[in-house]
Amino acid sequence: MFATTRKQIRRVQILKPDKESEFIMTKILHINSSVRNNGSISRKVTEEFLNKWKAKELGATVVNRDLAANPLPHLTEETLGAFFTPAENRTPEQAKIAALSESLVQELFDADVIVIGAPMYNFSITSGLKAWVDQVARAGVTFKYGESGPVGLLTGKKVFIFTTSGGVYSQGPAAAMDFAGTYLRTVLGFIGLTDVTVVQSEGLAMGDAGVEKALAQTSNTINELLPA
Ligand SMILES: Cc1cc2nc3c(=O)[nH]c(=O)nc-3n(C[C@H](O)[C@H](O)[C@H](O)COP(=O)(O)O)c2cc1C
Repeated sequence: MFATTRKQIRRVQILKPDKESEFIMTKILHINSSVRNNGSISRKVTEEFLNKWKAKELGATVVNRDLAANPLPHLTEETLGAFFTPAENRTPEQAKIAALSESLVQELFDADVIVIGAPMYNFSITSGLKAWVDQVARAGVTFKYGESGPVGLLTGKKVFIFTTSGGVYSQGPAAAMDFAGTYLRTVLGFIGLTDVTVVQSEGLAMGDAGVEKALAQTSNTINELLPA
């Protein structure tokens, strides 16, 4: 994991063969899903991660997708109708519905690295992040069924998921109740995103000391993930 992260960051030093003056820079897709702006820990830690990454790789580019500021529509019968109608047969309304999904999928294909802030709400992810999953997990687009089962089509990317939770799920009696990080690992793996690192900032409901401890641990983890 370490080694691959180093490799990813070192890409800044590689010259594109066709244009010597241009460096290859990492393209990062940054997704946030906390409904909070003020005091959101998931926003704070993804920002810390990105700032540290950008300090190491000055030219890294970041595309921000804020699922709380710009919520996506939940699936409806019309959405599924649009998804499953061949592009050439879609009505203008269906084309509009499919275009939104396809722009979100394109953001994923364009990214080298995907950073997701994923607060735990009621033992799972936020409904905003789930709406995004439903827009990008598309048969024939991000996964397909091969002879030996499903095949994810989004390959060769690194994903960093920053989960936040009031309780502790990395160990102890609540470990089996984490349907946030475990769910994201599963569904992202299904669409081909198998190189996934989950960083848990947990115990956030346990007073200021709990928050401080979690933030310190997360900072250490980020420093380990992005070695000098
Ligand atoms: C609607 C809601 C549901 C929550 N459900 C849980 C939960 O099931 N388990 C838990 O440990 N924390 C839960 N929490 C606490 C959040 O995970 C915690 O406050 C976290 O910091 C939220 O992320 P944020 O700081 O980025 O907003 C919940 C918080 C909210 C607002």
